[in-house]
Amino acid sequence: MTRLTVTRLTARPSTALTGRVTVPGDKSISHRALIFGALAVGETRIDGLLEGEDVRATARVLGQLGAEVLRKAEGRWRVHGVGIGGLTEPDDLLDFGNSGTAARLMLGVLAGHPVTAFATGDASLRRRPMGRIVEPLTRMGASFVARSEGRLPLAITGAAVPAPQVYRLPVASAQVKSAVLLAGLSAPGETVALEPEPTRDHSERMLRAFGAELRVEDGAEGRAVTLLGQPELTATDVVVPGDPSSAAFPLVAGLLCEGSDLTLPTVGVNPLRAGLFDSLIEMGADLSLENRRDLAGEPVADLRVRAGALKGIEVPPERAPAMIDEYPILAVAAACAEGTSVFHGLGELRVKESDRLAAVARGLAACGVAVEETEDSLTVQGRGAGSVRGGAEIAADLDHRIAMAFLVLGLAAEAPVTIDDGRTIETSFPGFPALLRGLGAEIEEGAEG
Ligand code: S3P
Repeated sequence: MTRLTVTRLTARPSTALTGRVTVPGDKSISHRALIFGALAVGETRIDGLLEGEDVRATARVLGQLGAEVLRKAEGRWRVHGVGIGGLTEPDDLLDFGNSGTAARLMLGVLAGHPVTAFATGDASLRRRPMGRIVEPLTRMGASFVARSEGRLPLAITGAAVPAPQVYRLPVASAQVKSAVLLAGLSAPGETVALEPEPTRDHSERMLRAFGAELRVEDGAEGRAVTLLGQPELTATDVVVPGDPSSAAFPLVAGLLCEGSDLTLPTVGVNPLRAGLFDSLIEMGADLSLENRRDLAGEPVADLRVRAGALKGIEVPPERAPAMIDEYPILAVAAACAEGTSVFHGLGELRVKESDRLAAVARGLAACGVAVEETEDSLTVQGRGAGSVRGGAEIAADLDHRIAMAFLVLGLAAEAPVTIDDGRTIETSFPGFPALLRGLGAEIEEGAEG
């Protein structure tokens, strides 16, 4: 992993962040572009690929499995695919680093190949539940030897011809849906992923773009995604939009730091990812989504944000899948808003890179914000603009989004906020501290002296 040399970072109260911010490529789309490229026949050209550690893990693992993945220039990659079922047995351990998406999607791919592979990851990934993919992939014919709840390290032996399934997802998870569909690519007949709530549909969009036959139907039981197995995937060019989940951090910094005015061009605004934008607008944010257009099959817009007062809101559980990664930064916005905010349906936050519900509650409390945490909800008593005390050191717990959220809080608080370890920011947002500094934010390496 490319390591920041100094791991501790301190954000000091800042004002007037201004300028244009180009955020890194979408992480979800970047993983998928590499994976579908590797399963297609021919050369897939990718522009704007996120070069964070998570996506590099997917690229490295695909290379270990026999696909040719080449970096041509910054963000410009080429994949020479081997065709569905064409990946080969790796001769060493597959290390997925910090990335749940890389691990779960690639285990779906491996479930449709008659190979045996051994997978692991960092301390955060090794504590995350994998039973949610082990179960459907076992039904499809893969076999696993894993730790409790399917946790890594694990061994998988995939099936040459997996059995197609109608699989009802027990949790709203795009990773589980995608793992089932990826295994279903090798299966004869139709594989159906039935999701209780619609989750991000980047796999579906990309499957279609690569030539697969796919139906999406909404019914009483939720959304059914039906894939016709054993298609021929054809190499396709992919242009990766800016990641809305990364844009969220400079965006909220711009809302909270007095006098700010930021433009973030070409950010993904897929409705299944856009819950944060809706929530911030409900809070009274001066945020506009301008110049909406389509970029290689994904909706994008230029975001314009200006600082201003926010008010507390209640976020319903149905919105959770469309902003599942954005609650840490939304909670920071809520802490700086007038009035109370309540977020419901947050159970899944407990099994992210860290237990994000606990980490957010603990961190806000350390910064002088009154919070109440239940098993799946969070209540934040907003202190109003510029009135959060700050002045704390926060344990990032190997979680990039906890690290970035609390750095943003430090920019908007009365006293600096330090995070103990900024290294995992590299997983999704390489260069985040420098980028914010370029806008006028005070973020320094080292602790508050
Ligand atoms: C992702 C799905 C989400 C999200 C993660 C990326 C994906 O996870 O939290 O950052 O690319 O499919 P879940 O599927 O676990 O909700």
